[in-house]
Amino acid sequence: MSKMMEQLRSAILGRSPLVYIYSPEEERIMRGIRSLAEEQSQNVVTWSCVLGLEGAGPETNDPVEAIMTIIRQGLTGMIVCKDLAPFLHEPRVERALREAYYDGRTKPERTLFLLCAELNVPESLKKEVHVLEIPTPGEDEILALIHEVSTANPDYTIPEEALREVTLALRGLTENEIGYVLHRVCRLQDATKDQLLDEIFAEKKSIVKKSGFLEFSPPRWAIDGLGGLDNLKQWLIRRQHMFSHEALAAGVPIPKGLLMMGVSGCGKSLAVKTISSLWNIPMFRLEMNLVFSGMYGTPEEAFHRALTTIEAVAPAVLWIDEIENALGLDESGQKIASHIFSSFLTWMQEKPPLIFIAATANKIQALPAEVLRKGRFDEVFFCDLPAPQERDEILRIHLTRNGANLEEFDFKMLQIMTEGWNGAEIEQAVISARTEAFYENRAFNQRDLTNVIGRIVPLSDTMEQQIKAIRSWAFSRATPASKFGKSAARRV
Ligand SMILES: Nc1ncnc2c1ncn2[C@@H]1O[C@H](COP(=O)(O)OP(=O)(O)OP(=O)(O)O)[C@@H](O)[C@H]1O
Ligand SMILES: [Mg+2]
Repeated sequence: MSKMMEQLRSAILGRSPLVYIYSPEEERIMRGIRSLAEEQSQNVVTWSCVLGLEGAGPETNDPVEAIMTIIRQGLTGMIVCKDLAPFLHEPRVERALREAYYDGRTKPERTLFLLCAELNVPESLKKEVHVLEIPTPGEDEILALIHEVSTANPDYTIPEEALREVTLALRGLTENEIGYVLHRVCRLQDATKDQLLDEIFAEKKSIVKKSGFLEFSPPRWAIDGLGGLDNLKQWLIRRQHMFSHEALAAGVPIPKGLLMMGVSGCGKSLAVKTISSLWNIPMFRLEMNLVFSGMYGTPEEAFHRALTTIEAVAPAVLWIDEIENALGLDESGQKIASHIFSSFLTWMQEKPPLIFIAATANKIQALPAEVLRKGRFDEVFFCDLPAPQERDEILRIHLTRNGANLEEFDFKMLQIMTEGWNGAEIEQAVISARTEAFYENRAFNQRDLTNVIGRIVPLSDTMEQQIKAIRSWAFSRATPASKFGKSAARRV
């Protein structure tokens, strides 16, 4: 039996006179209620604000009249009010519902369902109303939908080897959304597993886009484009299959989140971007500037909405860049927006397991101990300036990306010349060398690069003290992202 049916049945058996169903899926819920009513030999009556109460006159389009008619006529069975949400805060409607509750206690054969797409129970009715939050279709329901769509489109079946991942990726979508995706997929003859997953991610992307402050980050960055940082890469690779069907079925603890802090330009944001392609789950970046902008209601409301939106598209990665600013902390860790900060911590504790949080931080001293304490994030990594071998790797990545012939470069010399450089500076030097050679209409070479390197002053020269402070803070609090870790001899 599906989770939805279990929830509906326990509400009926629990004899709650008023049941508030929180779900945007009217058709699916109605089907569930009808099948339960059949099983319990009860009848179903619906109310909507344009059709009124089924079997009663047009005067019952008015919600109070409808509820009072139910009471006066002593109606029994499962009565479903579809449009009550916008009226719920009117004093007359609240009163009528309270009357229905008292009356319903003497009529166990009647259940009044309030079917609402948002959770908006008036404070004064919270004690009387039994709230059911119905999750989107679970695995069994998704498999049944896939079967249904395949039967309707006999020319197309989802390949057996892709079925499990497709089922997992479809979680979080409503029944209708799953239907649209599957019908679109059926038109892609001979689609590969990756194409199927892309189609599903596109649907999730469009859902999230409606929220305004979550931005889809495409799975475009491969992990081999990240130079050095081997401890971090290994951590990510080891968890590559944790969001798979097998891991879930085996009950393997699912990673909760990762915090990356450290020196600017050393690949923190780039590392986050690689997660989505490595793990094959969509990633959404939370734009906290927009949450705080007031364009979407109060920051607290907007933040809450962002978290519920991301829950609706799980499994997913939620990327929070510069978490210290995002959570409303000032330079010294004082909480400017303390509601947001505390609701985020609570949410991290209780969030659905299929959401992975990837956070980055620059001003680590601004992060209070509550964020860092064990159990919040699975790991806190520190990204330092790259060690010589890592600079070598980063150079090779960016030279290759810019079409250079690696044979023409003296890497020993470049390693020495870039001592104390971060990845962003190395990338910038390669791009400048290429641009200059392009101006002279030739391929770029070692000399172009050494000329540029000679002119750039790395951040570590100007920010020596800050980098030392970050390092000493990180020493006892974070795991080095680089395999050369704390032992690497570095200039700064
Ligand atoms: N380890 C690395 N390997 C390859 N490229 C790198 C590496 N580190 C940095 N880069 C290059 O520098 C760019 C900037 O890096 P990124 O934005 O990830 O740094 P960051 O640590 O997030 O910096 P900030 O703290 O300023 O946000 C990347 O897009 C990438 O091209
Ligand atoms: Mg960054």
